[in-house]
Amino acid sequence: MIAIVTGATGGLGQEFIKQIKDDVEQVWAVGRSAEKLAALKGTFGEKIVPVQVDLSDTDELLAFCRKIEKEKPQIRYLVNNAGTARMAPVTDFPPEEISSMLDINDKAAALLCRACLPCMPAGSFILNVASASAFQPNPYIALYSASKAFLMSFTRSLNVENKSVTCTAVCPGWVDTKMLPKDRNGKQIRYPGMVTADKVVAAALKDARRGKDVSVCSLYNRYLRFLSKVTPHSMIMKMWMRGIKDYV
Ligand SMILES: NC(=O)c1ccc[n+]([C@@H]2O[C@H](COP(=O)([O-])OP(=O)(O)OC[C@H]3O[C@@H](n4cnc5c(N)ncnc54)[C@H](OP(=O)(O)O)[C@@H]3O)[C@@H](O)[C@H]2O)c1
Repeated sequence: MIAIVTGATGGLGQEFIKQIKDDVEQVWAVGRSAEKLAALKGTFGEKIVPVQVDLSDTDELLAFCRKIEKEKPQIRYLVNNAGTARMAPVTDFPPEEISSMLDINDKAAALLCRACLPCMPAGSFILNVASASAFQPNPYIALYSASKAFLMSFTRSLNVENKSVTCTAVCPGWVDTKMLPKDRNGKQIRYPGMVTADKVVAAALKDARRGKDVSVCSLYNRYLRFLSKVTPHSMIMKMWMRGIKDYV
């Protein structure tokens, strides 16, 4: 049995590897950088199988899907964790960046789910790392937020389509990883309710094993999810804009 983890070199990716590696014989660690992937072998040992793929490159992504379809490894965990984000108005994004963000955050996850599902026996897990920003629109991270809403919706449907494989959308709020810049416009950025990667991953695995289709780590973020269900999104966006006014 193997696990496939994308974004394996990042904060949450490494934590997923740490917490699932004892359940499998190999971890196919997917990333762009050969050096960073080699370093994972040093950290986690011989179970790591480096898979160098740039998920924004459709040819590389499809070649990886074909490798899975051809080799048919028995997959216990598929963790679609790779993701990119940037805070800016949509007009500041060059077309290539819009395209690559949607490819990495959404297209790669959808294609990998499609390729892996036939190789996933009953009782295995797909964990798609979305975000609490999937719960409502968020101006200035509009693309990121919309891409995570796609991933959350897609994952919940997939969970119903597949009775024997649990599909969970992992929806953390702020997580202390390199993805979050420390300052902006000379101001230190505050991240309310920020949690560590180990807590997010432990909660995600616990929720997946309980069969949940959405995992929200921490009471604070569960409250935000509740708020997003009962409050008009126009109001939530006003609150969001007040929170980010110093940074945009
Ligand atoms: N940090 C947060 O506050 C937060 C909150 C909610 C959700 N999330 C989600 O959590 C996931 C993991 O993020 P993180 O916080 O662990 O950030 P991170 O440390 O920056 O990790 C991001 C990972 O994605 C990989 N990646 C980026 N572009 C790629 C590409 N074109 N092809 C292949 N891999 C690529 C990166 O690889 P390289 O090393 O090659 O760059 C890295 O391994 C993301 O989906 C993110 O949206 C994060």
